[in-house]
Amino acid sequence: MGMVSDLHPLPYGRQSIDDDDIDAVVRCLRSDYLTQGPEVRRFEEALCETTGARYAVAVANGTAALHLAALAAGVRADDVGITSTITFVASANAIRYAGGTARFCDVDPDTGLLSMRSLEECVARTPPKVIVPVDLTGAVADLPRVNAIAKRAGALVVEDAAHSLGATYDVDGVTYRAGSCQHADMAILSFHPVKHVTTGEGGAITTNDEALYRELLDLRTHGITKDPQKLEKNDGPWYYEQRALGFNYRITDLQCALGSSQLKKLGRFVSRRREIAARYDEAFAQLSSRLRPLVVPAGVRSAYHLYVVRLVARPGEDLAGVAERRKALYLALAEQRIHAQVHYIPVHTQPDFRRHGMGSEKLPGADAYYASCLSLPMFPTMSDGDVDRVVAAVTRIVSEGA
Ligand SMILES: Cc1ncc(COP(=O)(O)O)c(C=O)c1O
Repeated sequence: MGMVSDLHPLPYGRQSIDDDDIDAVVRCLRSDYLTQGPEVRRFEEALCETTGARYAVAVANGTAALHLAALAAGVRADDVGITSTITFVASANAIRYAGGTARFCDVDPDTGLLSMRSLEECVARTPPKVIVPVDLTGAVADLPRVNAIAKRAGALVVEDAAHSLGATYDVDGVTYRAGSCQHADMAILSFHPVKHVTTGEGGAITTNDEALYRELLDLRTHGITKDPQKLEKNDGPWYYEQRALGFNYRITDLQCALGSSQLKKLGRFVSRRREIAARYDEAFAQLSSRLRPLVVPAGVRSAYHLYVVRLVARPGEDLAGVAERRKALYLALAEQRIHAQVHYIPVHTQPDFRRHGMGSEKLPGADAYYASCLSLPMFPTMSDGDVDRVVAAVTRIVSEGA
């Protein structure tokens, strides 16, 4: 057997950059525009084509996309926004950036997705301005039901599709795409390097609503407009007005040139992710008394941003025991240069939320999920040999007791 130091490291995710991506960026560098040029519009059009949404607004990162979506959804001081506690902190922070208060829903521990029962209870307790369902790991949340609950409560839905570009879900025999906004008012995407396609940093909001689209465009650049129909007066061709407090959340042309090049390969990237997931699923079927892959709901085709397994509790074992074994598995994998990760620490337990009067919810589904989850390496350039190396290491470690 070779030395561990001879093994290449396997991170939980990484970008796939080819020569055509590099060429696209170099072409942009030689062009007239590094920012606010034609590449942004081109990338937005490609995003519309990919998701099926009518409008897309590309921005500096997924967090900025969430912030602008929360503002466009009308969140202001004293408003409530609801999201899942099993997500990256950004989903909840966006509600706070807009001045609102974040409330947290529980998840179904088998899927990691928003529990509809918990959402109903949460909405009944405090009517929200916005609900942010999260397509955790690339499996689309139950958007039709979230949307129905939101509409009854007069709230808007912002699908956090940071993990799910390329995923689909079926409703009554019809297939819909993540980010299409068929069951949401807006959706947000992230193009961080571990995501399906990357722009370095980057994000976007998609929507089918023209008024929301126009507002998002203004908010992206300082709340400034040159639209003659919106101006209070017009001093001349140079004239603009700041009509809302916006931001500089623009993305560069360099990044969008990379994004458009990457998007052309999305189908291939997602297919490879699904192949890797199928290989893991098949191998881990033998270990089902010890460890189970996260369940993808019926009718959903995950885009597998992440591949999460959960350790099965032993008879009589409490969550602390499961969490201890999960840590042992994480550490033992790291010794083999396999760098797993935990997605996510329940946001409602974060000290900053507690400090600001949020996060007092009791969410047992999220506790069970968090104690047991581990994200294994998942990225399109993994070879079958890499997948087999992870399977062999996990199988050995859990069989020896973790
Ligand atoms: C679920 C989720 N939402 C939002 C974001 C924020 O995206 P970004 O890192 O592009 O700001 C992330 C990023 O990791 C995420 O995982």
